[in-house]
Amino acid sequence: MLRGDLANELARRIADAAKEAFSLDITLQQAVIRPSTPDRGADYQSNAAFGLAKKIGISPRETATRITEHFHTGDMLDPPEVSGAGFVNLTLQDTWLAHHIEALATDKRLGTPEVPTPQRIIVDYSGPNVAKEMHVGHLRSTIIGDSLTRLLRFQGHEVVPQNHLGDWGTPFGMLIEHLSEKARETSKGETGNSTPTHSTQSNIADLNVFYQEARQKFDADPEFADRARTRVLALQSGDQKTQSLWKDLVAESERHFQEVYDLLHVDLTPENARGESFYNQYLPGIVAELEEKNLAVMSEGAVCVFPDGFTNGDNTPVPLIIRKSDGGYTYDTTDLGALRFRAQKLAASQIFYVVGTPQRLHFKMVFATAQQAGWLTENMRAEHIGFGSVLGEDGKILRTRAGGSVKLMDLLREAIDRATVILAERSELNAQERQDVAHAVGIGAVKYADLCNDREKDYVFSWKRMLAMEGNTAVYLQYANARIKSVVRKSNSKVPADTSIVFAHPAERNLAIKLSRFPAAIEATTTGREPHKLCNYLYETATAFSGFYENCPVLHPENEELRASRLMLCALTSNIIEKGLDLLGIEAPARL
Ligand code: ARG
Repeated sequence: MLRGDLANELARRIADAAKEAFSLDITLQQAVIRPSTPDRGADYQSNAAFGLAKKIGISPRETATRITEHFHTGDMLDPPEVSGAGFVNLTLQDTWLAHHIEALATDKRLGTPEVPTPQRIIVDYSGPNVAKEMHVGHLRSTIIGDSLTRLLRFQGHEVVPQNHLGDWGTPFGMLIEHLSEKARETSKGETGNSTPTHSTQSNIADLNVFYQEARQKFDADPEFADRARTRVLALQSGDQKTQSLWKDLVAESERHFQEVYDLLHVDLTPENARGESFYNQYLPGIVAELEEKNLAVMSEGAVCVFPDGFTNGDNTPVPLIIRKSDGGYTYDTTDLGALRFRAQKLAASQIFYVVGTPQRLHFKMVFATAQQAGWLTENMRAEHIGFGSVLGEDGKILRTRAGGSVKLMDLLREAIDRATVILAERSELNAQERQDVAHAVGIGAVKYADLCNDREKDYVFSWKRMLAMEGNTAVYLQYANARIKSVVRKSNSKVPADTSIVFAHPAERNLAIKLSRFPAAIEATTTGREPHKLCNYLYETATAFSGFYENCPVLHPENEELRASRLMLCALTSNIIEKGLDLLGIEAPARL
């Protein structure tokens, strides 16, 4: 079976034809193969002639004609045709396509190849902050990071997720001091002895409230502020009592984060967590190394790096501050420490940072510095995978009605509740099934709404849109899949592996072409780190299936041969939708 994007094979053949016709070498990109549609008269189109014509000095149409004269179709393609100003129309032979679909139907990887040289790739995602509720920005990072992790693993890479928890820095002084005071108050009020973790749990029932309380004390009470500052020093110098309060605080926050991951069915565990505090031990070394390499200099009392190529409007270089004048290290220093650790200790060849677009400059400067320091090389690359904000229906950053920041747990529970209401009318499901399906539909809606938009853009959070039964939504795909599965169930027969695919109606061929493009969709999605491409592909496939289902009776067609062929198309469509949804981190219930 031919694996991967079929366009690659077509590009090879166009390149061969160009070589034969003009003794010119062109790359596969220069063969410019684009998917086409039957109404435009082809499955694919090559636009190679336009670029080539300039080099050769004849018209694009003449160039295209010469290409078709030297094109080898083999048994894969019909004879190519020239159309318009110089396009080469390419159409798969029905027999070839039919055999290809038969092979896909029994292939576990659905035609997708494994990468020839798997790499170890670190994906830094989620990254919530201790003693603060996760917000929608962390939700986006978690959803996109999880999907990328699945896609890269499916391609055969080794992925090491890293959860860069914000668990260090000056705010911890006030947080620990506040926790210590609360602990004292509760233990006074209690008769028995409570264990520290137990009391921590009850003292930090609500992370945001806890944070705000600490902040208020810090702002209102100068003595508290002083004690908080002393705490920072105590924490940094490893004072036992302080360290243990800090650990309680981190553990309690991680428990909250884990609740969110569990609800999302995102596979992030404490093993993947390496918080900012972990890199603290390396920070003096980072500064020393950068100084040794003459990359860091003193500027207004702080140690700064001025990586090449970063200037303000007035052409003054922009600094990356790696040690403040008070001796403290920064978020930037920590990221340099994390990057060096990942490159050298975790021996990764790529590091992906799934973090909101507002941090773009931060990562650009960190990467530039790391390059100059030699931690990043040709074979050891870092990439910032940015994303836009989630907006409310008023077009502003998503907030609760009261104007507060939206709590993730509330948002996800609401999604499940809304899905439950939608599903309530469906009586075939028993109570347990209904609960599972409501979870799959609710969480799926939130994830899909996030993934189906161009990652870099902001999007508007709308319950109505994300839970719509029609349109490019998770529930539409889940419903389509469940319907296909029910047809296959009703057939009461297993599709035999030696079934022959028959194209009796154009809608069958149209669906077959879509199914053959699954590997192309995976390739495009992974290369561009663009989950929305996979969403669009799945939506188009489900739509093609609808067209097929309306026109082609599956259970009672004219003959047995057609029945088997159509059931095979059904089964393959369902496998592709399920695999596609799985790669997006979305479940596909068998019944809905
Ligand atoms: N904690 C950070 C935030 O909430 C995100 C961490 C992203 N990862 C990183 N290596 N800086 O903005």
